[in-house]
Amino acid sequence: MGKNIVLVGFMGSGKTTVGKLIAAETGMPLLDMDSMIEEKAGKTINAIFAEDGEPRFRAYERALARELSQTEGNIISTGGGIVLNPDNIADFEKTGLVVCLLADAETVLDRVKHDESRPLLAGDKETAILDILASRKHLYESIAHRIDTSGRPSPKPTAREIIDLYESLES
Ligand code: S3P
Repeated sequence: MGKNIVLVGFMGSGKTTVGKLIAAETGMPLLDMDSMIEEKAGKTINAIFAEDGEPRFRAYERALARELSQTEGNIISTGGGIVLNPDNIADFEKTGLVVCLLADAETVLDRVKHDESRPLLAGDKETAILDILASRKHLYESIAHRIDTSGRPSPKPTAREIIDLYESLES
């Protein structure tokens, strides 16, 4: 079996949407880290942040990254904060093609404006997006493979690009 495809990027950069398209095209299973964490904790991401705190969420995320980086042949959709711990990226790089999806603040805001499932964007979403993007920009930009999805109306070309890259590296 081949490497994993690991999708990294800010909230609303399209990781899950693009991951689903790649899964449909390649038949590789899609593992969504946020959903797996919710299942393990038995509560939503919002509830984990509110009741247990962000550090507890990051610990779940770290444990799962360690576990999933030991698998093969999966598409792994990570949460936007996966880059906060460099060990997560280092682990994923060992067994996977890590691709970072980039999107500007305007594109992100447009994609997440009706969504209340992200605790870090509760309240004034625009300010939160600008602040968090600024603090993490260097982390996303340090990933070798990056695709800017800003303003792209369809996720299809992004999925295609990643499949082509993956196939060129696997062959
Ligand atoms: C987070 C991103 C979310 C989720 C949590 C924290 C972040 O995932 O893991 O709300 O710190 O950027 P998405 O990127 O799928 O929204």
